[in-house]
Amino acid sequence: MPELPRLLLVNGPNLNLLGVREPDKYGTETLASVEAMVAAHATNRGLAVDAVQSNHEGVLLDAIHAARTTHAGVVINPGAFTHTSVALRDALLGVALPVVEVHISNVHAREAFRHHSYISDMAVAVIAGAGTQGYRFAVDVLAERLASHS
Ligand code: DQA
Repeated sequence: MPELPRLLLVNGPNLNLLGVREPDKYGTETLASVEAMVAAHATNRGLAVDAVQSNHEGVLLDAIHAARTTHAGVVINPGAFTHTSVALRDALLGVALPVVEVHISNVHAREAFRHHSYISDMAVAVIAGAGTQGYRFAVDVLAERLASHS
């Protein structure tokens, strides 16, 4: 059987605390259950997923670099690095993989410093405020795109 195309699911700082962290904004689902949900959904769409979460910017950059030749796209919730990290932007540009940016909360309805993203203008799509379902929608966007580009 040929191997399924792989997506890299990247979650940035503090997303390891999903489920306990500010549940009014981020819900009660844990990161492990989000990752399992994304993997199951990707399987239905004929894709495989590798998941990484880190609170360390360099670990995220290394994971993105490593995906350059092995993965077909990136689903990323960069957490607070969304609003601060030129390095993360450059890593995503550097590997030239299609990127979908996900935010569980609607960042545009929150503090002004969350309105700017270093990623959005280079992303295929940005999904914000759909809760953890946003990750599923991101898989759909990449699945459609990969199907139409293959
Ligand atoms: C977040 C929004 C960011 O502003 C915040 O720093 C996060 C989570 C979201 O998923 O809504 O850590 O990316």
